[in-house]
Amino acid sequence: MRVYLDNAATTPIAPEVTKAITEVLANDFGNPSSTHSYGRHVKAHIENSRRNIAKHINCSPSEIVFTSGGTEADNMALTSSICNLGIKRIITSSIEHHAVGHTAEFLHKQGRVKLDIVNIDEKGHVDLVHLEQLLSSNEKTLVSLMHANNEIGNLLPIEKVSKLCTKYNALFHCDTVQTIAHLPIDVKKNPLDFLVCSAHKFHGPKGVGFLYVNSNINITPLIHGGSQEKNMRGGTEYVYGIVGLSTAMEIAFSKMSLHHAHILKLKEHMIKSLNNSIPKISFNGLSSDISKSLYTVLSVSIPKFKNSDLLLLNLDLFGIACSGGSACSSGSSKLSHVISEVNKKNDNVVVRFSFCKYNTIEEIDYVVEKLRYLID
Ligand SMILES: Cc1ncc(COP(=O)(O)O)c(C=O)c1O
Repeated sequence: MRVYLDNAATTPIAPEVTKAITEVLANDFGNPSSTHSYGRHVKAHIENSRRNIAKHINCSPSEIVFTSGGTEADNMALTSSICNLGIKRIITSSIEHHAVGHTAEFLHKQGRVKLDIVNIDEKGHVDLVHLEQLLSSNEKTLVSLMHANNEIGNLLPIEKVSKLCTKYNALFHCDTVQTIAHLPIDVKKNPLDFLVCSAHKFHGPKGVGFLYVNSNINITPLIHGGSQEKNMRGGTEYVYGIVGLSTAMEIAFSKMSLHHAHILKLKEHMIKSLNNSIPKISFNGLSSDISKSLYTVLSVSIPKFKNSDLLLLNLDLFGIACSGGSACSSGSSKLSHVISEVNKKNDNVVVRFSFCKYNTIEEIDYVVEKLRYLID
């Protein structure tokens, strides 16, 4: 049996998405900037995709800027808020994805922005009282906090953060890479300035995503060149990726509650089975709190055992793919920045299981059985 439980890293591409991409690859080669019919035809694919995507997050198509994925979109939000929007300070947390954390540190080291880190507790809750204290100093601020943590699944109370940012006139960038197309997101209901999408997290292709930029703000490009993407990102558009992204989003939104219910059942089943069969197992962050964590992610902590350093490798030999809690998935023993923040007191073995609509209860039972065998 082969079981893929590393869907927070990337998801298998959906057959409908492959079909949509292949059709465009085979039939449409024009440059979307060309004014002749070949170009116009390809341009129509891009603009139809943009309209489709905008509808799902309740924004205007002109607020979507296609990028090479989540990392570029995060970089673009942070950098342009300094270059174009007069931002003097970024407030972020110590458990953000490196696409945000390393970008904020880089901008800070260059002396371009002040950096404040909001407190989190041992479960990874963002301290909203501290956030408000920081915001009350009334500096021109960008708050950058992720919607769901990719390692432990913690969900941010996005409405509360959005309200605080509005109250203190701060800009709000939310890294929604793990939640877009998994949870409903409405940018009119919870106003924010930037949000981020990466297609490969919901059965779309790699190397494509977008940045939502609220129409109240104007930004200049990070990548200079032609006037594509309304002068916000130069370079001939990745048409196949954009079509794949839009198709993946369409499927995800049309079946979201169905997928949600199925995947949540898998997660609940796994929590129960692990609790019943692995002594002293615990869960990192808010991972096992169903209402406060993303239903696709479960991060577990297991007391060390014989050969526990080889756990991921041994699971792989049984055909099981999942992630560890180390900084580098190729076997480094240094804990990741997220796990070391929420798991300060112990040096347990950390494994992240992350699910998708293609997983089954039988697969979960197989994984728990093999895990138990390796520990015994
Ligand atoms: C929360 C988060 N932000 C950003 C990224 C980067 O996205 P991409 O792989 O599209 O560059 C990831 C990818 O793992 C992520 O999980």
